[in-house]
Amino acid sequence: MPVTPHRDYRLNRPYQTPILEISDESPRVKTFRVKYDPIPEPIQIKPGQFVMVWVPGIDEIPMSVVQITEDGILSISVAIVGDATRALSQLLVGDNIGIRGPYGNWYEPRKGTAVILGGGIGMASVLPFVYECKNLEKHDSDSQIDRVICIEGAQSASQLIYTEELKQLLKSESTENLYLCTDDGSLGFKGFATVKLEEIIQNLMQFSLDQSVSSPITVYACGPEIMLKKVVDICLEHNIEVQISLERMMRCGFGLCGLCALEPMGLLVCRDGPIFRGETLVDCTDFGKFHRDLSGKPYSI
Ligand SMILES: Cc1cc2nc3c(=O)[nH]c(=O)nc-3n(C[C@H](O)[C@H](O)[C@H](O)COP(=O)(O)OP(=O)(O)OC[C@H]3O[C@@H](n4cnc5c(N)ncnc54)[C@H](O)[C@@H]3O)c2cc1C
Ligand code: FES
Repeated sequence: MPVTPHRDYRLNRPYQTPILEISDESPRVKTFRVKYDPIPEPIQIKPGQFVMVWVPGIDEIPMSVVQITEDGILSISVAIVGDATRALSQLLVGDNIGIRGPYGNWYEPRKGTAVILGGGIGMASVLPFVYECKNLEKHDSDSQIDRVICIEGAQSASQLIYTEELKQLLKSESTENLYLCTDDGSLGFKGFATVKLEEIIQNLMQFSLDQSVSSPITVYACGPEIMLKKVVDICLEHNIEVQISLERMMRCGFGLCGLCALEPMGLLVCRDGPIFRGETLVDCTDFGKFHRDLSGKPYSI
């Protein structure tokens, strides 16, 4: 099928656009809003997809799309880890960045109970999916999502992001649907989010047994890979479907350079992911163990 000039433009060249608004989510994370309308029709971006963000003079890096409004205002949240994210976080309203995409697959909502887990900046990937599931729960009886539970984990209270938004979104008088976890106990549950996840899964399963009701559980998660490995182990042990968003270094973002390949099947995180099912990841020998540097050389995580 011939590629239209518009689509070609979106895939291959960053669309330059000024930063419209910047807000602080935590001392390490900022949210940037830009207008992204490189083509005349509205751009559809699904929860879990990402864009490549060009930081002039520095680098181009993958970023999850936190939100895109109907009039094309796109939000990304950036945690400072290295050169490009630091340079991006120093830009001001009016400075230009480049955007191309969206790329990758997305979270697939399943019927039953959605347990959505974000560790650190991983919340940026799952936040739009919390909105999608809440929408389906309220307005789409065919989707049969009957409960949405969110777990957010961070090292300390000051590192938790989007908490007020999540409280509003998930508030319920009868059930607790938001669990905040901190490693140092400065807010919410003291301990890893995966400990809370296991507890929630066991309680949900016990409830189903006691009440003789069936609401299949699906877990969706993004965060540090060490956490994601544990999430997959827990879910597979309980025979629960799990969808995981993976991070890898990326260059092209759409399957050309091979930098984001997973051993041994050669799955590309940018094209076949970033969302993978747990069953796929257990067969990937580098999941939870290795990443690749910009030259493609593997290193232990
Ligand atoms: C699909 C996808 C979505 C992402 N979404 C977000 C997001 O919404 N917000 C956000 O802040 N970050 C996100 N990231 C991670 C982000 O792309 C990296 O933090 C960024 O590329 C680091 O660039 P840098 O130049 O600042 O760091 P560098 O100087 O390149 O590296 C600093 C450190 O981070 C590690 N690193 C660099 N890039 C990656 C990467 N892609 N994955 C894992 N480790 C990496 C390096 O090994 C090094 O240890 C996402 C990554 C992917 C693949
Ligand atoms: S980033 Fe180039 S193939 Fe995935």
